[in-house]
Amino acid sequence: MPETTIFYTTKSQDIALFLSQSLGVESFELYINPFPDSEWYVRVPEEAPDTDVIFVHRLFPNQNDSLLQMFFILSEFSARGQRVVLVVPYFPYAKMHKKVMSGEVVTARSITQWLSRTVERIVTLDCHFIKREGAVDMWGAHFFNLSAAETLLNIARDRSEDPCVVSPDEGARYLARGTAQHYTLKKVRGEYKYGGAGFQRYARTEGRLDVEGRDVYVLDDMISTGGTMAKAVSLAREAGANSVVAMATHGLFVRGADKKIIESGADEIIVTNSIISPYSKVDISPLIASYFSGVK
Ligand code: R5P
Repeated sequence: MPETTIFYTTKSQDIALFLSQSLGVESFELYINPFPDSEWYVRVPEEAPDTDVIFVHRLFPNQNDSLLQMFFILSEFSARGQRVVLVVPYFPYAKMHKKVMSGEVVTARSITQWLSRTVERIVTLDCHFIKREGAVDMWGAHFFNLSAAETLLNIARDRSEDPCVVSPDEGARYLARGTAQHYTLKKVRGEYKYGGAGFQRYARTEGRLDVEGRDVYVLDDMISTGGTMAKAVSLAREAGANSVVAMATHGLFVRGADKKIIESGADEIIVTNSIISPYSKVDISPLIASYFSGVK
């Protein structure tokens, strides 16, 4: 890819260096440091005058600061007239993609609309509000949504002769497309609680799993507090599964989610390194590199 430069934040270095090597493109680290009053000092090296930029930035953990840093950096690229493809493997605020109560701000849309003014394309991975692989135009922005599902499902196929895949809710069903043995559970939500932060209570998970003696792989787009995954794992255990592996693209693991999932009966947790954790056993760098290799 001639005349393209990769820029990356320190916490995205592994992905950026993989891309740099596989695409044969020079890469530069961005300098971000807090001032004593906790505002951000940001420096974007000027040694790279190329018009086309790939900017790689992990937005979790510390998504609020990471977003602010991203906006500063993108403003600088805009000021220089550089065209940016933004690589954000995990897209924060994605769950806030629709209004449930009047007056709620659809923050996923706010972020996307801002990005649509400063980037050519957003390359992301199993984005919660897109729910399909490929090119998607939304809220004025051009997305390319990659998926780690096939890579995760291949782990299941390699390990078990006859793996059984469980989607912990209907929203995760698309990840398991094409798998012969597949069950979808239903997440039943309770009433909507309105307060400092609005959310719908997660009441229970329903569904019949005929998995006695089977190797079960529960596959979701993300593990946040672990409630969704833990409920699906317990149901698989109660149904007599031989083994249960909890799999997801993004592992946020907030509030002791990993402990909760293991205590519910999971033998193992596997997530990608879209967010780095002790359970990141799948490297997404080759997936991102193959997207850029295919772009003409
Ligand atoms: C929800 O629709 C998502 O696909 C995940 O199931 C959910 O975000 C996981 O959240 P938690 O780990 O807090 O249950």
